[in-house]
Amino acid sequence: MSQLDKAREIELPKIYDHRGNLSFAESGRHIPFPIRRVFFIYDIPGGETRGGHAHKKCTQTVSAVTGSFTLRLTDGINERVFRLDRGNKAVLIPTGVWLTMEDFTTGTVCLALASEPYEEEEYFRDFEEFLEYTKENSCDL
Ligand code: TYD
Repeated sequence: MSQLDKAREIELPKIYDHRGNLSFAESGRHIPFPIRRVFFIYDIPGGETRGGHAHKKCTQTVSAVTGSFTLRLTDGINERVFRLDRGNKAVLIPTGVWLTMEDFTTGTVCLALASEPYEEEEYFRDFEEFLEYTKENSCDL
């Protein structure tokens, strides 16, 4: 199975309540890695694109806690596109996959759960470098 094939949607529980709905995520139960970092992106100006990188060792999920956005994943050959449009839907992003997030609706809050602490050295931020590396090391990712 390619790294891109490992990307998948994860349905988080949703507890409906007249006081407001509640969703949650637990490592091992809904999220297939120990969650070592949480970050969120918000106040996103119209037309902006986020991401534009791949990870060597960090697996993560993203979701739109509120609002919606499009997630594009590519391994340089194939592409998969997901629309995150519900608070209880997440997408698992494996290592070795280039990701971009775009078409954010106003007020979107993007929540990411990550398997590793932040470490700039484990990022690919250059697409050509990413392609070269995956060609040579795809088995290691
Ligand atoms: P960046 O990876 O470019 O954001 P995105 O991929 O979501 O568009 O990160 C923006 C800046 O924030 C960059 O200087 C690195 C820093 N950063 C941290 O310090 N810790 C983190 O956990 C993350 C995700 C980013």
